[in-house]
Amino acid sequence: MSGIGAWINDAAHHVPPSVHLYGIDLYPTHFPERHPSNVHFLVQSIFDMPAEWSNTFTLANQRMLIGSFLPGDWRKSARETFRVLKPGGYVQMLELDARIHQVLALGPRSRRLEGVINAIWRERGMLTDPAGVLPDILKECGFVDVTVETRTAPVNRKSGAMGALHLYSISQAYRAMGEAIIRAGGYGVVSSVREFTDLVVAAREEWAENEAASATFVMIYARKPQ
Ligand SMILES: C[S@@+](CC[C@H](N)C(=O)[O-])C[C@H]1O[C@@H](n2cnc3c(N)ncnc32)[C@H](O)[C@@H]1O
Repeated sequence: MSGIGAWINDAAHHVPPSVHLYGIDLYPTHFPERHPSNVHFLVQSIFDMPAEWSNTFTLANQRMLIGSFLPGDWRKSARETFRVLKPGGYVQMLELDARIHQVLALGPRSRRLEGVINAIWRERGMLTDPAGVLPDILKECGFVDVTVETRTAPVNRKSGAMGALHLYSISQAYRAMGEAIIRAGGYGVVSSVREFTDLVVAAREEWAENEAASATFVMIYARKPQ
């Protein structure tokens, strides 16, 4: 889940070197070669963390699993996270509100892309509205003080550096879905990964020039009781 370690490497600069941070992911190829010496990367699934990690961590950070988790996975990860946190420890989950697909339907190319993305999302029963589901899951797992904060961020080149950055990262996230979409048959819209990539690039250019192109991010945080 640490992916390329962007969050954990940044977090390491905000804590004393005596604080150790552990990043886990299924795939070691994502781990960065360079990282602070108090950051440790482990090949490990969130669903079955080591038994000896029970009641160990002060903070658990989970970010952008919305495109990776199937419906039952959210509860499994929340249950395991509850187990490994110390009493009084916090979990924070940052996710994209995937109803973004509607927000980005800002032109003919975007609408074609929206059709494909919504089709695979629906077929797999994936979460679209994290704020609508995760708070209850966290409460069921025993967390308290569940809090949700949402922020809307620009996804266009008209809104400064942040808008350009989101434009890049969100279009890259869509591009990464190409193989899965073609394996699923292309939903009558695209017939090759190349064609899908071209569609993402064309849609991105529609968002780029439209100040209304934005995405909503949801932060859900909660505490394990003492
Ligand atoms: C979209 S990336 C997000 C990476 C990182 N959290 C970030 O925000 O930069 C999702 C990551 O979750 C990892 N992942 C998916 N299922 C996992 C699991 N069951 N256990 C651990 N990592 C998992 C994937 O390998 C991928 O690196």
